[in-house]
Amino acid sequence: PVLVVDFGAQYAQLIARRVREAGVYSEIVPHTATAAEIAAKNPVGIILSGGPSSVYEPGAPALDSGVFDLGVPTLGICYGFQVMAQALGGEVANTGLREYGATDAALTGDGGVLLSGQPAAQNVWMSHGDQVSKAPAGFSVLASTSATPVAAFGSDERRMYGVQWHPEVKHSDHGQQVIENFLHKAAGLAADWNSGNVIAEQVARIREQVGTGRVICGLSGGVDSAVAAALVHEAVGDQLVCIFVDHGLLRKNEREQVENDYVASTGVRLVTIDAREQFLNALAGVSDPEQKRKIIGREFIRSFEAAEKSLLAEAAADGEPIRFLVQGTLYPDVVESGGGTGTANIKSHHNVGGLPEDLQFELVEPLRALFKDEVRAIGRELGLPEVIVGRQPFPGPGLGIRIVGEVTADRLEILRDADAIAREELTRAGLDSEIWQCPVVLLADVRSVGVQGDGRTYGHPIVLRPVSSEDAMTADWTRLPYDVLARISNRITNEVRDVNRVVLDVTSKPPGTIEWE
Ligand code: XMP
Repeated sequence: PVLVVDFGAQYAQLIARRVREAGVYSEIVPHTATAAEIAAKNPVGIILSGGPSSVYEPGAPALDSGVFDLGVPTLGICYGFQVMAQALGGEVANTGLREYGATDAALTGDGGVLLSGQPAAQNVWMSHGDQVSKAPAGFSVLASTSATPVAAFGSDERRMYGVQWHPEVKHSDHGQQVIENFLHKAAGLAADWNSGNVIAEQVARIREQVGTGRVICGLSGGVDSAVAAALVHEAVGDQLVCIFVDHGLLRKNEREQVENDYVASTGVRLVTIDAREQFLNALAGVSDPEQKRKIIGREFIRSFEAAEKSLLAEAAADGEPIRFLVQGTLYPDVVESGGGTGTANIKSHHNVGGLPEDLQFELVEPLRALFKDEVRAIGRELGLPEVIVGRQPFPGPGLGIRIVGEVTADRLEILRDADAIAREELTRAGLDSEIWQCPVVLLADVRSVGVQGDGRTYGHPIVLRPVSSEDAMTADWTRLPYDVLARISNRITNEVRDVNRVVLDVTSKPPGTIEWE
């Protein structure tokens, strides 16, 4: 792999994704990894990420300088560029000149291998206080800005390069090309990582792990569990049984999409548990959000366990027990729980609302090395329906936490109808790729006066919460076109009973969370 050394900011994952977009497999390692640990991973390239610190601050994240003696092509980015400069005998200084955001950079000569094929002047995204004041001996300066004379450097002989700006962010005009030049031209790596290869590799791995054993998988209706199960099915066929709990908090047609479209396209064996009444009864009279979440989690485990017990009994009776459980764990969960090194202990990510911990299954996690967009690509390659593969994130507790107030069958129906209209109009307007998700919330405990037809109404407001985000950790409200908002509002107030007002949530995260509860 190409190893991305993480200096503790958010950049490492983004860089790893960009490397994969260039067709090269990448993994993230912490900056505390020793040169020997890094060498043991047989890296074909190393990229040092940006970071929040100043290289000469006490306690600044450092790197074992032996990494620079491995003979592996290396690219330093921002903080990583400065770490590299310092380790190789260059100088880093605080000149008091800072650069944040869009900055004009000028190539020196033709920009060398790293910046070859790029315009002499370009817009790059900067975020730094310190700067490299002198390139290491044997390195040429490849670009500069008005505040930063050494904005990029390189040595073809050592196959080491660095840029002060962030080529991984979309705001840098030719950023992806910097990464591609490094990978393909400087390190000589072919672009051969793609979803077809990932499927073949995972199918082989799953077969090896599972053998003739039986496997179960809880489907949530979301992308991750759907793709994980499809991969396992591709590998071991009907040794896999999927369980889908209908808790009644799903969106319109979701159960049918799983039971019909998903099953038809994958051929998986599916057991659906209709637990709608059980959940409604458990939620009766409860309006506190945390309490709702706890109840939904608890009831989910109950229904899942009940389904599981009967399957376990059935399997045990014919002599081939169920020994494996599929989880749709993604790479960001692995990295964020300290698993980037491959040695730290890994938290099990519960993507279907928390699974029983006392059952001793061995986990099958075919998406552990993948980012969300890669999971979607694999799902498409496996022929899964777009309604599932393209689905936006949806919380495990479902519509239960999108009704502010008590959850009742009646309120669920109102919210489902309003949500379906909003989603339909957003899709029709071609906005699905622009928004991360758009929760639709029913303020069931709020009423306002309206006038519809000839009469006064006293109905409930629906809130639209469209957000843009890279990872749901932070988000901004999406500036939807007014005509789309108007259409959604018109249709909801006309077509959904008891709703006489539609309001737009214009809060970023932070301070507001994406969901209302
Ligand atoms: P918040 O509301 O915390 O949501 O800004 C961040 C992201 O997580 C989703 N979300 C959940 N997903 N189980 C889940 O699987 C949950 O309990 C849950 N709560 C929130 C939310 O939709 C958003 O994408």
